[in-house]
Amino acid sequence: MTETLHPVYLDCDTGIDDALALGHLLASPIAELVGVGTVHGNIDAAGAAENTLRLLNLAGRSGDNAVPVAVGAGKPLVGEFSGGAVAVHGDDGIGGVRASLPEADAAPDTEDTEDSVDLLVRLSHEYAGELQILAIGPLTNLAHALVRDPTLVDRIAGVTVMGGAALVPGNARPAAEANIWHDPEAAQATVAASWPVTLVPLDTTMEHTLDETYRRRLAEAASPYARACGEMLDVYLNFYETVVLGRRAAALHDPLAAAIMLGEVALLDAPRVHVEVDCTDGPSRGSTVCDLRSQRKAPGDVPGATVRVVLETAPGYVDLLTELLESL
Ligand code: BDR
Ligand code: CA
Repeated sequence: MTETLHPVYLDCDTGIDDALALGHLLASPIAELVGVGTVHGNIDAAGAAENTLRLLNLAGRSGDNAVPVAVGAGKPLVGEFSGGAVAVHGDDGIGGVRASLPEADAAPDTEDTEDSVDLLVRLSHEYAGELQILAIGPLTNLAHALVRDPTLVDRIAGVTVMGGAALVPGNARPAAEANIWHDPEAAQATVAASWPVTLVPLDTTMEHTLDETYRRRLAEAASPYARACGEMLDVYLNFYETVVLGRRAAALHDPLAAAIMLGEVALLDAPRVHVEVDCTDGPSRGSTVCDLRSQRKAPGDVPGATVRVVLETAPGYVDLLTELLESL
């Protein structure tokens, strides 16, 4: 998928790697960001909208050049808001930099005006057959949208989800990745719907990291957006160093999903297979059960399956991301 301009609706819980994904979309010459919906996850949905609006402002996307931002679901389909991922993304979701970013010149839309589901449905009509959904937080908004307008699936070109763990350990729980863990029922509704889904799980996102050298390069860039990313990544790298990897390098979960959606990273192993999300209350709640049995004998797509699971990609994405952020 290259050359044409792809209209994109972004659904996010604006934490640090979400901010990188937003930057990727804004800088990419082949993406047109036409709307953003926010959701509970790394931070509450209203806080995610505040972060998004400030980041958009920093990138010059305000006033006449603004992108609509709408607040979405504040809690999962079942249960309550988890309280956010403060240890990973900081109190404000973006590593403590929110207060230093220019204040948003507009409030986000809410259920009193146009919530994220209404925004998505409206955009699906405006860009019927072309709209790409990039979902990089819990999938609650998508699940609500499927109920509010069941015909939505027919107007969406593709849904790319950062989430899940096919053959590797989880992160939020032993077997569950955070975006799926925070709303397994919504994730199940998303993978069961008849739209083409590309799942970008930890199997591949953990293979694409950004280390201290790249972080410093961003922190010292001419672009204010890149500098803000460099600053917030300090918190993210601290978490990865102390809790996840034991070295100063962090996984590029959300921006990698943006790159895969746009066809900017080559897929080496990405079969379409049947996927189910564990929605039971046992120890594997929130795990993504990808039926890869067929891959032993006949690697490739399974007839009738609608979920492409990205298991392996070409390396080197960190260079593209860094250059895009520097160009903002
Ligand atoms: C996902 O969880 C969130 O903390 C990140 O923003 C990313 O979307 C990674 O598991
Ligand atoms: Ca996210």
